[in-house]
Amino acid sequence: MDIDNNYIKKTIINWYDSNARNLPWRKKSNNISNIPYRVLISEIMLQQTTVGTVKNRYIEFMKQWPNIKKLSQISERQILTFWSGLGYYKRAINLYKCAKIIRKNFNYKIPNNKEELMSLPGIGDYTSSAILAIAYNQPVMAVDANIKRIIMRIYGLKFPIKNLNKKIQQYANKLIHKNRPGDMIQSLMDFGSIICKPRNPNCKECIINNNCIAYKKNIVDKIYLKNKFSSKNKPVLYTYAYLIINNNKILLRRRAAKGMLPMMIEVPTSKWLKKPLNKDQVIAHSPIKMNYKKLKKKINYQFSHFILNISILVGNSKRKKIKKSKWYDLKKINKIELPTVMKKIIDSDFNRNLLN
Ligand code: ADE
Repeated sequence: MDIDNNYIKKTIINWYDSNARNLPWRKKSNNISNIPYRVLISEIMLQQTTVGTVKNRYIEFMKQWPNIKKLSQISERQILTFWSGLGYYKRAINLYKCAKIIRKNFNYKIPNNKEELMSLPGIGDYTSSAILAIAYNQPVMAVDANIKRIIMRIYGLKFPIKNLNKKIQQYANKLIHKNRPGDMIQSLMDFGSIICKPRNPNCKECIINNNCIAYKKNIVDKIYLKNKFSSKNKPVLYTYAYLIINNNKILLRRRAAKGMLPMMIEVPTSKWLKKPLNKDQVIAHSPIKMNYKKLKKKINYQFSHFILNISILVGNSKRKKIKKSKWYDLKKINKIELPTVMKKIIDSDFNRNLLN
């Protein structure tokens, strides 16, 4: 079966013109010179986070730091604090480094070529291509998970396939739109999320099903990318969380600059290890020597590449000063920028009132 790439391009981009999702980073801007910055921020946020979560956070981010200059003047802690709830904090650190480098080496201008973009921390093949096409209108294709799936279906690429990514990129390049390369990429993303979905795609309504090998062969459902780290094959790490309460206050501290949740505020936890700690270790890792009550319910929190199994210890302490930690008012806990996992740990303590 021959695939008519020109027909696919025309049809999908026409579809996009009346069906594009209304997303804040796509709004027409009066300030054309700031478009690359908008694309950079949105693409970094969207790297591992859903469109639904990113929408509002993107608007907040742009309000606080509307351009590279502003972003390059803040502290790393500020961007990490902002990032709470978005996860993958390394992105925030890298984005901040990018702003500094773009200030120093590129006079505040986001590079418009592959080599310089790829030299920036956290910007790889996908993100650099997205910036070139969407911000600078250069004829390249950026292949995200949606586009991968669409390509695999159109061309009937069923596992196992040698050099799959290379083949996908080659096929995807056939769909580069000379005049509207950025819109072409985003039209495919929207098509993938609305029509050519991972499960139960709307093949009957699909306007390019006459150009889809998977549809013709009736193998569409068999072609989608499984998450490499589906919860079934993620390793488990174990930790204890020490939920220490003093009347209406809770003891929190800042995590290290390296490792998971860098510099984020946490409920003190023991090291995250492959085996559960023994009793002595649990005591040794506690911020202070004290009696705890262990909550029956544990939390299994999913990170991208492992599950954190958290046992929660709750105790009261009247100590004023505890090394490297601070007391925070529980009533104002919502104002503190905490990673989601830490919010879950605090929320799990339903017995708090009983202890006071
Ligand atoms: N995912 C990554 N980049 C995107 C974009 N520009 N629009 C919609 N979804 C995306």
